[in-house]
Amino acid sequence: MPHKLLPTIDFTRHARWLQRSTGGDHALAVCDAGGAPCWSADGHDGLADWLAQLNAGGFAWPCNGDGMQRHDSGESSLLYLPIKAKGQPIGFLAVRCAAGAGDAPFAWDALAEALEDVAAAIGDACSVQGELDAMADELSDRYEELHLVYAIDRQVQDMTSGEDIFGSLLESWAEHMDADVAAFIKPGENLCVSATNLSRPIHNLDLVLVEMRGDLYRFAHSSRQPIVMNAPDDPRRAYIFTDMPFKILCCPVFQDKSVVAILVLLNHAHKEDFSNSDRKLGEVLANHLSSLSRMHSMLAETSKFNQQMAAALIEAVEAKDPYTRGHSERVHHIAMEIGRALRLPARELDNLFWGSLLHDVGKIGIPDAVLCKPGRLTRDEFTFIMVHPERSYEILRHIDRLKGAVPGARHHQEKYDGTGYPHGLAGNDIPYNARIIAVADTYDSITSSRAYRAGRSHEVAMAEIARCAGTQLDPGVIAAFEQLCRAEPGWIADFGIARDPAAAACAA
Ligand SMILES: [Fe+2]
Repeated sequence: MPHKLLPTIDFTRHARWLQRSTGGDHALAVCDAGGAPCWSADGHDGLADWLAQLNAGGFAWPCNGDGMQRHDSGESSLLYLPIKAKGQPIGFLAVRCAAGAGDAPFAWDALAEALEDVAAAIGDACSVQGELDAMADELSDRYEELHLVYAIDRQVQDMTSGEDIFGSLLESWAEHMDADVAAFIKPGENLCVSATNLSRPIHNLDLVLVEMRGDLYRFAHSSRQPIVMNAPDDPRRAYIFTDMPFKILCCPVFQDKSVVAILVLLNHAHKEDFSNSDRKLGEVLANHLSSLSRMHSMLAETSKFNQQMAAALIEAVEAKDPYTRGHSERVHHIAMEIGRALRLPARELDNLFWGSLLHDVGKIGIPDAVLCKPGRLTRDEFTFIMVHPERSYEILRHIDRLKGAVPGARHHQEKYDGTGYPHGLAGNDIPYNARIIAVADTYDSITSSRAYRAGRSHEVAMAEIARCAGTQLDPGVIAAFEQLCRAEPGWIADFGIARDPAAAACAA
């Protein structure tokens, strides 16, 4: 097998150089380190066969040595010398001469000098090519790193806090690095997320993950270094992954200089070894996991705080009227189900999340006597009620984080035919989220109990909503809601909503 760099060199110019230096057309060949010819000069087709015969006859090419040497064989002589790249022999330069041709001292010296120059030039060319190849490999590795880092950033930007960020990332990393398993283990938070890209099944994946959470994590925690275990007889296998023949790349994830988690890539034994480049890439990914993990914890904290604040606001509204207790939560739940059924993009779902939860927050300013009045409201009393969406807007518009949620809350009392309030918007001029909240709000108003009447059944509510299609409510949203309800979602029972199949039959 010739050295990998020899086939990359164009030897014809070296042959021309030798010809010009010595004034003769020499039968020149380049052989690999074992003496097998891998190139011969034009017009000397028999040279390779002659060298092969020499090899078959037991000629031993010296392992070491400098300068030109000579071997006589019948009517021909072989003149040869090693080609070295960065001091290491990678092959031989060989010339066949008629026996005795080199006996004249001048001819011998001139040929030896020219061959040494040519061998040195070939060696230099191989060294340069080797450096270029190494740079190309390095560049390729860096490009892979950059590509992956860019992909991570893009993925993170596309995600909302509610999504399984780590699961999605591990999935794409397992694919990108062609690993059978990628896992992120953070024992302090009891977090163990994994993704598979299996080249062959792993029947005991749970046990493998237990091993990662246990001995492998402890080993990485104390060594604080990346661990690469490729060889089946690696002495560390006495302690970690005993009797598990997988190849492992494990990188510690640091926070404040402490190891808090590990990133593990695992491969079946038949796959290629994890390389130095894989190790470096693993460290880059572990650093990203560290930042993401910190960000994720902060987001979770912020999200918890936001929800507690929202719950406090809702509590303040609903405490005024015990009959509306739970209304905001139920409307929120149903609106989100409709939003998901309508495949709203993540950002709009987030707006719907807050808009539906806080849609009635403006009721906080309605006098108790009006809000809790059991029975019909007078025209004057109703004007207080009509103010609540605008008041919701006034309260929420000061919170930057909720800017996208404000239109849903502000316009949830608009009617599809334009007869609603506060602005009398119609059709698609009503923000989409407001049309969704309106359907959920109507459903809950009908099915929940009031001081003056018991809650009506799901079937009655659906019939009433269908009747309002195109007048009060958006027919498109109603269609999505009806389809959703045909699958009998769990919340109908969870919210204790009465059922009345007979009413459904009557409505039909
Ligand atoms: Fe409401």
